[in-house]
Amino acid sequence: QPWLSPTNQELELIVYKTIGSTNQEAKKLALEGAKTGTVIIAEEQTQGRGRMGRSFYSPPKSGVYLSLVLRPEVAAQDAVLLTTGASVGVCRAIKKVTGIETQIKWVNDIYRGDRKIVGILTEAVTNFENGQFEFVIIGIGLNFKQPEAALPKELEDIVGTLFNEKPDALTRNRLAAEMINEVLSICEDLTNRDFLAEYKTHSMVLGKQIKVFRNNEWEVATALDISDEGGLMIKNQFGQIETLNTGEISIRKL
Ligand code: BTN
Repeated sequence: QPWLSPTNQELELIVYKTIGSTNQEAKKLALEGAKTGTVIIAEEQTQGRGRMGRSFYSPPKSGVYLSLVLRPEVAAQDAVLLTTGASVGVCRAIKKVTGIETQIKWVNDIYRGDRKIVGILTEAVTNFENGQFEFVIIGIGLNFKQPEAALPKELEDIVGTLFNEKPDALTRNRLAAEMINEVLSICEDLTNRDFLAEYKTHSMVLGKQIKVFRNNEWEVATALDISDEGGLMIKNQFGQIETLNTGEISIRKL
């Protein structure tokens, strides 16, 4: 009996103890033809990758690191929606398994309180002839409990864990399973955009003063709303309203 996704797609689960990067492996397999619904999970990554060319600290046994291969029939401009959908899926999974409410910092960092506990890296390969995705990799890294070794200094004030106390042994498995289920149930059918309203209820930036990083500097702005395409609508420093489709923001400490 195969594993099935919420929309009855067959899943192929590939589990590693240690790997360089699950996203890297998923991309390699997708280039070799891996089907939609292929999932790579690892206990540790030695070369975990983050957004903006950063690395993602992925110590053993204290996190869930996984990547999903999708071959969605959506236009490349809907890429932000996959990212938005993935973060809502992760919030749903955490709530379902642990009862814990989490917040999303646009685009898709997930926080518990003022600490980041989940990072998501979406990578896509596009077919230039029809503008559609060849495939998309959604990589999710959840910091589940305190790692055995001390955190690198530069992460100390930023990164947190879902649990402070020691969770029971099955919780990690259930979180991995539900993250896969919930993310796929949203991302396999982006015609249903109900998740956008849910995204807004989790957003920790709406109505706030923020800083936007572009042209190599931080600009002051106010976060107003999330567009139907998952973009962040802001009022910029000149009072004009614009929509950001990708990028990096920080919440201004007043
Ligand atoms: C970020 O916060 O910048 C995104 C981090 C994404 C990390 C996950 S862990 C599983 C997958 N494999 C990777 O190498 N990166 C993603």
